[in-house]
Parts: sequence; structure tokens; C-alpha cells
Amino acid sequence: MTILGIETSCDETSAAVIQEEDNKIHLLSNTIATSLNLHAKTGGIIPEIAAREQVAYMIPVLEEAVEKGLNCKFKEKDKILSSLDAIAVTYGPGLIGSLLVGVETAKTLSLVWNKPIVPVNHMIGHIYANWIENSDILLPAVVLVVSGGHTDLLLLKKHGLLQLLGGTRDDAAGECFDKCARLLGYNYPGGPKIAELAQSGDLNSFPFPRPMISIHGYEFSFSGLKTAFLNTTQELFPILRKNTSSEKIGWQQAALTDSLSNSGKKTIANLCASLQNAIIEVLVKKTIHAAQKYQVKSILLSGGVAANQLLRDTFSQESKKQNFRFFVPSKKLCTDNAAMVASAAYFNFHPVDWAEVTTDPELYF
Ligand code: KG4
Ligand code: ZN
Repeated sequence: MTILGIETSCDETSAAVIQEEDNKIHLLSNTIATSLNLHAKTGGIIPEIAAREQVAYMIPVLEEAVEKGLNCKFKEKDKILSSLDAIAVTYGPGLIGSLLVGVETAKTLSLVWNKPIVPVNHMIGHIYANWIENSDILLPAVVLVVSGGHTDLLLLKKHGLLQLLGGTRDDAAGECFDKCARLLGYNYPGGPKIAELAQSGDLNSFPFPRPMISIHGYEFSFSGLKTAFLNTTQELFPILRKNTSSEKIGWQQAALTDSLSNSGKKTIANLCASLQNAIIEVLVKKTIHAAQKYQVKSILLSGGVAANQLLRDTFSQESKKQNFRFFVPSKKLCTDNAAMVASAAYFNFHPVDWAEVTTDPELYF
């Protein structure tokens, strides 16, 4: 089976072609364009700009993914029709203007090419990024989805049977990384910057809280940790105080670390390492606990934050100790892409009539 995937939930425009053979996914193409640099001035995604860029990128991205993936020209309709079996598209959650571009494109292709269309939940797409490179994942599995807007722990009993164990009560893990980075003057996405700064820091130097770590149940909370980081950092670097009068913190100024002495830089590295360590400890401990309780065979990590190297390494070590098989997509497939959408559609193949597909920006599990 060959599936064309389309993903436009936020600031990435992506189209991909996957081919399945004996339940193994082969990635034939995965084109991704992003409007991220256009949002740098404000420090966060501007939905209106993201949507306009989706419109501008959609056709060129689609053309490239189809031509590379199916090895023919986009105009060679007969060749496309003979190779392609279905179209998969993200219908939520996400920004309404961005989602509409992908959904309307997919509906149009479905109608014109007379191919079935499979609507995909973006979060479930993140989970299925794991199957693009691994065909030997054993179920049941505990799945942790960590992105900019979500921190969700789930139990995947078999394909199509997903149970939510718990989510975040307030900020997601990625949001915590992003807001703390913003205080220091770094734009979205802040996670990679915190991880970079943390490399030269001591991860035990600041005793930040581990929210809800010992509370039974699988809910998370990261806003208290964010506030602790904010207060400690402002106490040490009073210059940052003026930047927190509103949500519009750090991005207005040059990155703090650029103007610091070596010892100031070391303190920032220690703060970032301690923050990263606190987030990772909570995520790993709760996930391993769930894996033990539900006696699963595998642990799956996914979502943008899964690109964090220390998180990947810690999960890998702790899973091995507890005899769970651990899977995480390669870093490029952790952040938003259309290959994961096509993969999710293959394992949950429920086509609908094109006229029934609508966007659902608030979609959850
Ligand atoms: O899944 P994603 O691309 O978009 C959403 O659906 O939200 O995730 C983006 C999130 C951002 O919060 C970003 O800071 C975080 O993933 N992220 C990271 C890393 N790379 C991306 N967080 C920590 N360490 C990283 N290396
Ligand atoms: Zn995402």
C-alpha cells in the first residue's frame, strides 16, 4: 500500500509518501517547509502568518514529495493514480487556518484522483513516527507524547486501541522549555537552546521541584517548575526582571548569555542543566511506573521534545534496566512531518468520504 501524507497543523508544511510492504514502512519522500523564521520577531507563532505561509508552501511541497516519492512528474496523473492507494491528512489538533490548508488540499486531491482519504489526529501521528524506522515494536506499549502543546501518557494495547492515562494540568513539557528559554532571550523553539546551554552545566546545581513526581496517577504539571526557574534566574540576574512584566518576556532583548562573564555563563548553563534534569526525571519516572503497572512490552517516546538527546539517553538506560524495549523516532521524525501522518493512517486505516472531513483544532485523544 502506498500513502500520501499531508501535515499542516502549525508552522510546518509537509507532504510525504510512504510504502508499506509486509507491515514494514518504507519512507519514499518527506518534504518539510517551515515559516518559523517569520515568527522570530515576536517569539511565538502568529497564526495568521502561519496560515498564509501554509498556502504559499502547500503546492510546491506537495509537488516535490509526490515527484520524489512516486518517481514521476506531478502532471503525470496516470502514473500517480496507478501507484497511490490513499491520502492521509492531519485534521487536528492545531491552528485552524493552518489545518484548513492541508485538509482542503487533501479533500481536493481525493475528489480529483478518486482516492480514499484518511483523517489523522496529529498526536497519533507523532506516536506512529516510531513505526517508520522500526517494524518490530511489540504491543502493548506505554507511549509518552511530549510536544510544545502536549504531555500525554497513553497505553497502546493494539493498533486502534489507545487509552489516555494522563496529560498535563497546565503547561506542557515543551512549553516549559520554550518559556524558560524565552526568559533568557531565545525565540521559539526554546527546547534545543536550553539543551545546548545545559551541555556545559551541572545538572544537580539547582534543586528545582519535580512536579507531581510522587503522586500516583499519570498527570503532569510544569507551570510550577517554570515559575521556580523564572524566580531563581531573576534573583541571580536582576536585569531579567523588567522582561517579565507580561507574557512577552526575553524575546525583546538580545540573548542574555551574549553579555555575560564566564562565571555568569556557567551559572546559566547550570540553571538550564538543572531545569532539563527536572523535566526529564518527571517524564521518565512516571512513564516507567506506568510501564510496570500495565506490564507492557515496549515504551515509545514521541513528539518534538523527544528530539532531546538526554531524554532519549535516560529513557534508553532506564528502560533497559527494567527490561522494556524502548523506541524513539530519529530526531528529524520527532518534530512535525507528514510521514508520521501517513504511517498512522496505514496502521489505523479508516477512510471516509472526502465531504465528511472537517478540521478539529481542539481535537484530543
Ligand atoms: O511536536 P512539535 O514539533 O510541535 C508541536 O506539535 O508542538 O514540538 C515542538 C516542541 C517545542 O516546544 C520545542 O522546544 C521542543 O519540541 N523541542 C525540544 C527539542 N527539540 C524540540 N525540547 C527539548 N529539547 C530538544 N532538543
Ligand atoms: Zn506536533
